[in-house]
Amino acid sequence: MDSLSTLAVHIAGVEAPLNLPVSQPIYQSASWTFRDLDEVDAVYEGRQAGAIYGRNGTPNHRALEALFAGLHRAEAAVACASGMSALSAVFLGLLKAGDTVVASRDLYGSTLNVLHDLERFGVSTRTVEIDNPAQIEQALIGARLLVLETSSNPRLRVPNLERLSDLAHRRGVLVLVDNTFASPYHCRPLELGVDLVMESLTKFVNGHSDVMMGGVAGPQQRLEPIRAVATRMGLVSNPQECWLALRGAETLELRMQRAAANALELARFLEAHPKVRQVHYPGLPSHPDHATAQKVLQNGAGAMLSFELEPSRTAVNTLLHGLRYIRMALSLGGTCTTLSHPATSSHRFLSPGERDALGLHPGFLRMSVGIENLSDLRQDLEQALARL
Ligand SMILES: Cc1ncc(COP(=O)(O)O)c(C=O)c1O
Repeated sequence: MDSLSTLAVHIAGVEAPLNLPVSQPIYQSASWTFRDLDEVDAVYEGRQAGAIYGRNGTPNHRALEALFAGLHRAEAAVACASGMSALSAVFLGLLKAGDTVVASRDLYGSTLNVLHDLERFGVSTRTVEIDNPAQIEQALIGARLLVLETSSNPRLRVPNLERLSDLAHRRGVLVLVDNTFASPYHCRPLELGVDLVMESLTKFVNGHSDVMMGGVAGPQQRLEPIRAVATRMGLVSNPQECWLALRGAETLELRMQRAAANALELARFLEAHPKVRQVHYPGLPSHPDHATAQKVLQNGAGAMLSFELEPSRTAVNTLLHGLRYIRMALSLGGTCTTLSHPATSSHRFLSPGERDALGLHPGFLRMSVGIENLSDLRQDLEQALARL
């Protein structure tokens, strides 16, 4: 007679249903069984579909990778535990001591900080202005990787991806684009000649502010060292988060359509408001990259915008205290409209000089526009701005 302890571990078993569910099950298992050594070899060598161990990914990871690759019309993708782990996997997979990275100075603050960290491992970074091709051409000499953002955080600068990829390739330099702000709805950088695209899927692709996730997409061969590093160093996520991100992505287009339409109207409203000194939105003719954005972005100019009040912390706090729906949250890409303050959050760890050079003064705010009713959002801003 089998004992209680043995029954408790084995009796329920694991049975695959005979027909397929509509929604993929969550494969909450850190390890997988094999019939024999031949099956182990077959799965490791890719001759048989199967999973090995949680850190190598589960069917939920593979599904999210298929989604991200598909949205970017890429051959393959690697899903990671966050946008930063995806970026780290690219850096650790492609760079070695002595390499040089050329980076737009308009990158997300943490990306710039990771590049600073890499100096300890012998990788140096040259920062450039995205609209200065002569400076970029000079910086690319002897470099290994050019890093850009499709729509930069937080000034919404839009580089001419086609032109800069061409410049980089002529010097034998690979191009990585962080497409987090645009999402595949507004831009597919690989089609513009970029080698690798990454996104924080935490943001628009998942879209519900409840998951941390990142992805890198590109040619299969280019991704191999990146996947190897992500697996070895444990940069992968868990099956539950992959499942949630996949579910969120189902409504990506609907959310982006609505949010981008809201953003354009709010950008126009803010630009006309006497308390607002400047609006940064590539969909406005006043933006320095308006013409470039029309080539690089499709379906509008995105759901992110920034605006400047007088350079005063008090003004920002007064606005925040006055808002009813729009809250401060130090992320972006959810269904609700949120504000963030780069000087005290995303760009907090830059030096004051670096922040000043980017114009990130105490009155600079970044807004992630959500899918709420436009007139409610406009009214909310109007009544809060009236208190300044
Ligand atoms: C442009 C951009 N890239 C990368 C990241 C990092 O993503 P995660 O927070 O998922 O690590 C962020 C986060 O805000 C971001 O805004």
